Amino acid sequence: MTSVRRADAVAIEEAAALLARGELVVFPTETVYGLGADAANRDAVAAVYRVKQRPVGHPLIVHVLDDGPARTWAEWSQRAQRLAEAFWPGPLTMILERAADAPAWACGVESTIGLRAPAHPVARALLHDFARLGGIGIAAPSANRFGRISPTRAEHVVEDLGEDAPLILDGGPCEVGVESTIVDLSRGRPVLLRPGGVSVAQLAAVLGEEVLERDAHAPRASGTLDAHYAPATPVELVDAAQVPARVGHWRATGRRVALWSRSVPPSLADVGLAMSHDARTTARELYDTLRRLDRSGCDRIVIERVPRTPEWRAVGDRLRRAATGGGG
Ligand code: TXA
Ligand code: MG
Repeated sequence: MTSVRRADAVAIEEAAALLARGELVVFPTETVYGLGADAANRDAVAAVYRVKQRPVGHPLIVHVLDDGPARTWAEWSQRAQRLAEAFWPGPLTMILERAADAPAWACGVESTIGLRAPAHPVARALLHDFARLGGIGIAAPSANRFGRISPTRAEHVVEDLGEDAPLILDGGPCEVGVESTIVDLSRGRPVLLRPGGVSVAQLAAVLGEEVLERDAHAPRASGTLDAHYAPATPVELVDAAQVPARVGHWRATGRRVALWSRSVPPSLADVGLAMSHDARTTARELYDTLRRLDRSGCDRIVIERVPRTPEWRAVGDRLRRAATGGGG
């Protein structure tokens, strides 16, 4: 039975007890809401795959308090230590060699493991309470059905998971709004698998070496599939100068158009929302906006392309995937 609770100390303590008993709990992080399970409990992890309708072979990120518990899950390295010191707690997931004796349930078929220490106070309090009950990590993918838009508010989780959602800790809207940066440290050189709140330049500066972009041989992260983060309504990404013509074209053929644009008045379309000029604000509003446009009853969603600068990288990446998805 779904229940949404304000994430106060009592609710968090109860949530930790549920996790310890093998139940699932939805909790806020600074990036998106996660569907959490005791990472050391095989049945609980299996339930996450079931509820999410996620194919096996797409491993989960294990959330930890800090580098202490991280070391029980993974072969800790100097690079990992540097990145943890610089960016944990925060929106960075590191892929590391899994420790030989670490439970493998969360990792799918990989010999590696994804680890992240979230910064959100509710996530940290939950990890604290769970640690007091003997827990060492919470396996949590984004709390959406596989291939759908990640939730950045408690109500998104209810919309998407419905009756399948377990206890949901409501911590308000997520501050970052897009999923964590994923860097793979398990191969010779650091490789970026998913852009997010921490940029390639920031990673490279701390590591003192180049960070490669995702290559064809990197393990497949589900966020790297093309049709992902997709609304049901077809999405088109259009350069600012082409937006009026594109909207006009669809309306002339009898289609209702929803528009998200920085430089064109929203009133041009049947449903229009103004995009911020600030990349962080846009990231924070991204998934809620995609959901609103998708619900607007329009036949097409037209979104103005964002700048190709590092600060817009994560938003540009998610928009591209929303546009190649559609109907999925
Ligand atoms: O911000 C986030 O990372 C959110 C919050 C809840 O922490 N979580 C999240 O989880 O986005 P999920 O499962 O939706 O995406 C995790 C991605 C997937 O694409 C998965 O394939 C990849 O991380 N991943 C996890 N472990 C991996 C591993 N060992 N090797 C390669 N990719 C891995
Ligand atoms: Mg996800």
